[in-house]
Amino acid sequence: MKKLVFATNNAHKLSEIRAILGDTIEILSLDDIGCTDEIPETADTLEGNALQKAHYIYDKYGCNCFADDTGLEVAALNGGPGVHTARYAYPDRHDPKANTLKLLNELNGVTDRSARFRTVIALIIDGEERLFEGIVEGTIPTEERGTEGFGYDPVFAPNELGKTFAEVGPDVKNEVSHRARAVRKLADFFLA
Ligand code: IMP
Repeated sequence: MKKLVFATNNAHKLSEIRAILGDTIEILSLDDIGCTDEIPETADTLEGNALQKAHYIYDKYGCNCFADDTGLEVAALNGGPGVHTARYAYPDRHDPKANTLKLLNELNGVTDRSARFRTVIALIIDGEERLFEGIVEGTIPTEERGTEGFGYDPVFAPNELGKTFAEVGPDVKNEVSHRARAVRKLADFFLA
């Protein structure tokens, strides 16, 4: 069976992709290839970061691989926090609770609450680059809603659900989520 490294150790992301591609391609994590490096993510776009991570693995380990990067793009914040989504509240660390509170504060009194989640997957296969994008459009509620999921899930409501990701849980979320849409495009590339 063909092997492909996913430049992550995030168990949730690994199971999501293995559920789609597991029968056709063996998906290896960073742990599986013995990589414990802090992979640099210093680009100023989602595309740049995804490519940077995938290239790091391809160049160092010589194996076909892909990496993802996700941003929340809020219209009233001119597309921010975007590439800074993970470290929105504090530039030096990832604090999901502080991130959601900062978002709600920044949008206090703002009427245009439209936003989108965007995931970019960069694949390097035999030295060639390919990009796959998944987008889900939605709105930011005025307060946190729901307890499921992670990150910004309580403060992002996709238009097709009318509820936050944190109110619907993983099965419904995975039908419409940004990452699932990007992953399906990656899968289509391999399964075509
Ligand atoms: P990453 O690129 O997957 O590491 O995500 C970057 C940032 O976006 C992190 O702060 C995540 O918590 C957040 N994020 C990514 N995907 C989701 C999601 O599906 N729900 C909520 N937050 C997310």
